[in-house]
Amino acid sequence: MEEIRRRPRRNRKSKVIRQMVEETQLSADNLIYPLFMVDGNKIRQEVSSMPGQYRLSPDQVLREIEDCLALGLYSFCLFPSFPEHVKDKYASISARSDNFYVQTIADIKRRFPEVVIMTDVAMDPYSSDGHDGIVENGEIINDATLDVLVKMALVQAEAGADIIGPSDMMDGRVGRIRQALDAGGHTNVSIMSYTAKYASSFYGPFRDALDSAPKSGDKKTYQMNPANRREALIEAELDVQEGADMLMVKPALAYLDVIRLLRDRFDLPIAAYNVSGEYAMVKAAAARGWLDNDAVMQEVLLSIKRAGANIILSYFAKEIAVLNKN
Ligand code: PBG
Repeated sequence: MEEIRRRPRRNRKSKVIRQMVEETQLSADNLIYPLFMVDGNKIRQEVSSMPGQYRLSPDQVLREIEDCLALGLYSFCLFPSFPEHVKDKYASISARSDNFYVQTIADIKRRFPEVVIMTDVAMDPYSSDGHDGIVENGEIINDATLDVLVKMALVQAEAGADIIGPSDMMDGRVGRIRQALDAGGHTNVSIMSYTAKYASSFYGPFRDALDSAPKSGDKKTYQMNPANRREALIEAELDVQEGADMLMVKPALAYLDVIRLLRDRFDLPIAAYNVSGEYAMVKAAAARGWLDNDAVMQEVLLSIKRAGANIILSYFAKEIAVLNKN
């Protein structure tokens, strides 16, 4: 019998050895927890397509953050849900420093200065058209939208946002926002660009949570075609030139190759957004007893990290923090 000199199983023979040779770890340090917000008081409405995730009124957001801090989870990305009657064509309310979203950011930073707050910059939660840009005759107008995005980013920065997250996919937005932040004295405010954001069908539950689905048409003239990989390099190149601090790929699971591509080609931190539909799939299968929630959640997030993401935005963030704490 021929001898077997190389036996990879030796490195798997016990738990301690397996941990010793483990290449990738999940830690709350690299996770950002997205939270949905709604105006009002004592509101905690579960999002039906996202079991375990809630629309929270400002008081509840503060409570939730306090909870997470105790678990070692310090970073949050906030998304507002505005009622239909305050929305308009130009997302005007997004530029007002007295809107509940901006006010809550300021409250959070006053109460918990150590937390990292990432904000979302895009018109859709504020727009009566439900699009990320201004709509004229069915077309999304790029350059006029940039003025709206800049104002939105500025009020968020003034409220104390640590990271601005432009998720709109308009051309030139990172540069314009960087310039405006610097001119406004916010040179320390970071930009995490949604660099390769695809026109994905995995955002459905998120649009339920925020009532932000487009009223007509789709987002294919600004979000990327899922078939394209090289185009992500063009977007990334521009974001780097325009001054982004971190690059994001979104969604994550169906785009692991794009995460790896950007990780190999660029030196900035790479983030991935494990989006609402990816969360919903795991929860739906787990509810039927078809999958083990905790095991699958960890395997999914590990795969995203292994693909090259340094940072993951995930609705599972708190569950991971709980698991790691125990
Ligand atoms: C808004 C925005 C979306 C998401 C994050 N920011 C939805 C969209 O572009 O339609 C999706 C996040 C998720 O599905 O979890 N521009």
